Amino acid sequence: MPAPLLRVDGLEVALASTGATIIEEVSLSLEPGETLGVVGESGSGKSVLALTVMGLLPRALARTRGNIQLGGDELTTLSPDAWRDRRGRDMAMIFQEPMTALNPVMRVGHQVEEVLMNRRGMSAGDARRRATALFERVEIPEPARRLAAFPHELSGGMRQRVMITIALAAEPRLLIADEPTTALDVTIQAQILDLLRDLQKERGLALLLITHDLGVIAEITDRVLVLYAGRVAEVAPARLIFDAPAHPYTRALLASRPALTGPRDRLVSIEGAVPSVGAMPPGCRFAPRCSFAIGPCMTAPPALIACAERHAAACVRVGELG
Ligand SMILES: Nc1ncnc2c1ncn2[C@@H]1O[C@H](COP(=O)(O)OP(=O)(O)OP(=O)(O)O)[C@@H](O)[C@H]1O
Ligand SMILES: [Mg+2]
Repeated sequence: MPAPLLRVDGLEVALASTGATIIEEVSLSLEPGETLGVVGESGSGKSVLALTVMGLLPRALARTRGNIQLGGDELTTLSPDAWRDRRGRDMAMIFQEPMTALNPVMRVGHQVEEVLMNRRGMSAGDARRRATALFERVEIPEPARRLAAFPHELSGGMRQRVMITIALAAEPRLLIADEPTTALDVTIQAQILDLLRDLQKERGLALLLITHDLGVIAEITDRVLVLYAGRVAEVAPARLIFDAPAHPYTRALLASRPALTGPRDRLVSIEGAVPSVGAMPPGCRFAPRCSFAIGPCMTAPPALIACAERHAAACVRVGELG
């Protein structure tokens, strides 16, 4: 097995004001060329996890424990400047709504060229040629004309292609995509996912793909991490998430899945709500909504228990659910 490119160990993130934890004991690893899906209901901490890895946590939040290693280097001990440098060079992130990440008053071509000049040391002429080639690669029609456009002159799908171009311009080894297609209509979603998958294969990228959509998980991820209320509920090869889900929460997610032919929007909700930050139950965070919960589930958060190779679930009843 290749050495992981990204390794997160025992990560905890808390509200800076009260110390209430948002993420607890989250560990994961991601190999070069691998796609790890992160799935969970709204508020489960998916974006906070991504921002923590990128070193982009807002001031209101703080990493209180845990380590993050990229290519064997510890990121958490880096100065903000050094972390920013790694972010520009080795890892990149694309967001759900590209409009918020693009500079609205700068032509999109210029935004790509800036990365190429700053990060790859290219001359203006080389950067222009490379930006044109990248636009062609991400299938932006009429690249020369599109390079001169401002973000608002492009469709949502085109803007997301521009974001992908900017993310890939520095040739990162790790790409984090946080709900990269949920703001787009279904046909465009499929095209952007295909593009991400092709680019990931072509470049041997490690891809951390955050999504609500189990259809997306099925289509392009190798492994899946299920987050519930800031803790890992289950981690498994993607196939096993569908064929042999071990955690009651994963099962509930699968059961609440919208029909594949219907609108692929937010997950249809599971009865009850994700507990709020600062008001987490003392035991398993899913216990109040879990039809399998028993006494011990109420007292202490369950540890991850291995159920098969590369498959583990944080449930005291693993193997008993039938
Ligand atoms: N800047 C912040 N200040 C205070 N609380 C925050 C902040 N950012 C996130 N949180 C809280 O952290 C928790 C996790 O949020 P996060 O955005 O990571 O969820 P998510 O899984 O990405 O949800 P969604 O699917 O809706 O994007 C939520 O309870 C949220 O309210
Ligand atoms: Mg989010």
